[in-house]
Amino acid sequence: MTNLHRAQLIDRLPKAELHLHIEGSLEPELLFALAERNGVKIPFGSVEAVRAAYDFSNLQDFLDIYYQGMSVLLTEQDFFDLTWAYLERARADNVRHVEIFFDPQGHTERGVAFETALNGIEGALKAGEAELGISYRLIMCFLRHLSEEDAFATLEQALPHLERIHGVGLDSSELGHPPAKFARVFARARELGLHVTAHAGEEGPPDYVHEALDLLEVERIDHGNRALEDAALVQRIAEEGLTLTVCPLSNLKLCVIKDIAESPVKRMLDLGLKATVNSDDPAYFGGYIGANFHAVAEALDLSEAEVVRLAENSFTGSFLPMADQIAHLAEIAEVAGG
Ligand code: HPA
Ligand code: ZN
Repeated sequence: MTNLHRAQLIDRLPKAELHLHIEGSLEPELLFALAERNGVKIPFGSVEAVRAAYDFSNLQDFLDIYYQGMSVLLTEQDFFDLTWAYLERARADNVRHVEIFFDPQGHTERGVAFETALNGIEGALKAGEAELGISYRLIMCFLRHLSEEDAFATLEQALPHLERIHGVGLDSSELGHPPAKFARVFARARELGLHVTAHAGEEGPPDYVHEALDLLEVERIDHGNRALEDAALVQRIAEEGLTLTVCPLSNLKLCVIKDIAESPVKRMLDLGLKATVNSDDPAYFGGYIGANFHAVAEALDLSEAEVVRLAENSFTGSFLPMADQIAHLAEIAEVAGG
C-alpha cells in the first residue's frame, strides 16, 4: 500500500458526516458578504484578520468568536446560503449523507425567529438532497451554558415542526454544565420520538460521558475523547456498539490534543469502539471532512482497512434506516475493492 493509494481511497470513499455545526461552516468570505448584505458591523477589517483571530486555547475561546460570527445570520436566505455552501463543499469530499446540528438559541436570543433558521437550513438541505444527492437529518442542539428552562422553551418552539427535526443534541461550554442539567429535557425529547445525542468528554471528564449514557440515554457520543480514561466506560461503549463522532482538526485547534498524532481515532478502533471522523466547525478549524480523514490517516498511519472502517462507521452510526445503511456499505465495498 502506498500513501498515495490511501489518499485516493479517502477521496473516493462515500462518507456520512455526523458531527457538523452548520453555524461553524461560516467561512470568513461569506461572513463578510452577509455582514455587508445585512448592514451588520463586525469587528474585523478583512478576511485575513478574521482568519488570524481563529487562534484558540480552549473551547470557550472558540465559542466566543463562534457566537459573534452568527450575528450576520438574519434572514432565511442567509441560513440557506450558509447551508448550501457547506453541502457543496461536502459533496466535493464525497459526502453522501449529513446529520447536521444547528443552535436555535444562538439565533432566538438575537431576535431571529426559530422558523427563520429552520426554514433556511431545511430549504438548502432539501435542495442538496435533490441536486447533490446528499440525504440528511437535522439535529437541534441545546446550549448547555443556558438554563434547563431555556432548553425546555426551545423544545416547545420545535413542537410545531417535529416532522422536520430529527433529533436533539447538547453543545457549547462543557465544563460546569454536566449532562445531568438536561436530563428532564432529554427525557421529553425522547418521549416525542426524537433521536438524542450529546457532546461529552471533549473537555469534560469521563463522568460526563457516563451521565450522557445513563441520564440522557444518548444514541451517540459527540467527541468522547476522555472516555478513554475510564476502562469500564470503554468496555460499556464497545458492548453497546455506540458511535463516537470524533473531530480531529477541532481537537487540535481547541487544544484537546497537542498534536494530530494524539488523535484518539486509532486507539478507539483498536479498542473496538465505533469511531467516526468529522469536521465539527470546519470554517474555524481549518478543514472539512476530507482534510480530517487525511490528517489522521497520515499522522496515525492508518491502514486502508481502518480508513474503510471509519467510512463504514459513519453510515452504521447514522440515523438512516438499515436498508439505506446497507446500500451505502455496498458502495463502500465496491470502492474499497476496486
Ligand atoms: N463543542 C461544543 N460546542 C460547540 C462545538 C464544540 O466543538 N462547536 C460548536 N458548538
Ligand atoms: Zn461539536
